[in-house]
Amino acid sequence: MTYSKKHEETLDPENWDTFRVLGHKMLDDMINYLETVGQKQHRLATKEEISAIKKPLSREGVGEEQAYTEFVESMMPSMIAQKSARWWGWVVGGGSPYGMLTSMLTGGLNLPSDDSFSAAYNVNRQALDWVKEMLNYPKDSSGIFVTGGSEANFTGLAVARNTMAEVDMKTAGVQGVPHKMTVYVSEEGHHCLERSVELLGLGKDTLHWIPTDDQYRIRLDLLRESIDTDRRNGFHPFCVIGCAGTVNTGAFDDLNALADIAAKERMWLHVDGAFGSWVKISETHKHLADGLERADSLAVDLHKWMSMPYGLGCTLTRHPREHLKTFVYGEEAAYVKYDLDKPIEELLGTSMFMGLRLCNETLPLKVYLLLRAYGSERFGRVVQQNLDQIKYLEGLIRKDPSFEISAPVSSNIVCFRYKPTGLSADKVDELNRLIFQGSLEKTPGIISDTTIKGRYTLRACNVNHRSKMEDFDWLVAEVKRIGEGLVSRM
Ligand SMILES: Cc1ncc(COP(=O)(O)O)c(C=O)c1O
Repeated sequence: MTYSKKHEETLDPENWDTFRVLGHKMLDDMINYLETVGQKQHRLATKEEISAIKKPLSREGVGEEQAYTEFVESMMPSMIAQKSARWWGWVVGGGSPYGMLTSMLTGGLNLPSDDSFSAAYNVNRQALDWVKEMLNYPKDSSGIFVTGGSEANFTGLAVARNTMAEVDMKTAGVQGVPHKMTVYVSEEGHHCLERSVELLGLGKDTLHWIPTDDQYRIRLDLLRESIDTDRRNGFHPFCVIGCAGTVNTGAFDDLNALADIAAKERMWLHVDGAFGSWVKISETHKHLADGLERADSLAVDLHKWMSMPYGLGCTLTRHPREHLKTFVYGEEAAYVKYDLDKPIEELLGTSMFMGLRLCNETLPLKVYLLLRAYGSERFGRVVQQNLDQIKYLEGLIRKDPSFEISAPVSSNIVCFRYKPTGLSADKVDELNRLIFQGSLEKTPGIISDTTIKGRYTLRACNVNHRSKMEDFDWLVAEVKRIGEGLVSRM
């Protein structure tokens, strides 16, 4: 091939002025979308939209403008989901307009890591320190921003496994342990924990699901019993996982009691506080997370109750050197090795040695800018508002004899069932399943469903900063309307 300047390819725009116009339009469109999206109800994608997405791979590309037009026409209309003020299904954060702008900044900077050559390193350290402060977690702990609760749990449990193993886990791996390592969590624990245990090579049989009490908290007597039995059988119980906000009912384990057990048994306490940890910044429910600060490792996310952009979680550990030793590259890693003898202080802001990823979106910048913009108290007021709204919803449901509350309401989740008189237990289950189906068809996301202690239930979880009190009046009326319609046809 002969050298010709004309053929030197780049992905930068051919014409920056045209690109600037497109960029401003995209920004304006997105701000317009966010301005009204709260009042919209989520809807499913139409068949036409779905078939418009399925396309052969373009050889030469259609150009930025055309690609964007296709997004606006066939993708964006059904991408409302959790931004609606009337979304309480699963645990889904609503993001914020400023959060969107922070994502634009990290996209624009497109830094591969928070290395110590740039301000990104200090942004990371500062953002971690603020998160620790809000959660009252020790100042000298280590941490890393990750992609969400699942990765945060995985990261914490990896440190737990490597630190507590009776062998050098980096070299011998789980194949080398002399005694099978066992983990404990309540039967209300999130299934990402099971996935972590599997991926860490421990095998899911080593995760013991301990029954809960009538408040859906881990039964401490059964936990102790299980640890004792396992020890007698030659296992190595190494980690207890505490739940700070279970996904089903929002229940909190007694974290101080778990920390005591872990200390006595020389075990690691990991806490899954994915969304629930943030009760710490409320007025009325902060006590639920007492003891969180004693956890050896803690997993939280920022994209649910903190309404930050999706793809944001955080792992904190009270064991910086063990954290680092779990993830740092070995001596043989010539181009990315790190000297473990350096003072720990110098290592803490370098996330490429604290987690799975080498290259990283600059997640801490989003956290930094959002905490700087709104401050801890404003976030605290949102959390408090959500808790108050759930109390209000619980009151509405209790007042109406055609409903029942199906689990104690501890924090930001109400489990409830529509239960008109005269129906058998199985019929009530079936009716509520149909109500859920009905809600999915017309107004997806207003509620979700689950099964607790063998009983099917509807569930509303509030991490929504756009909801108003009156939205909860609407929710009760809407579920009842769907239920009454179904009963009349039964
Ligand atoms: C208690 C709990 N842990 C972990 C997770 C997983 O977090 P993520 O969805 O951010 O991966 C969730 C998700 O809802 C959760 O509620």
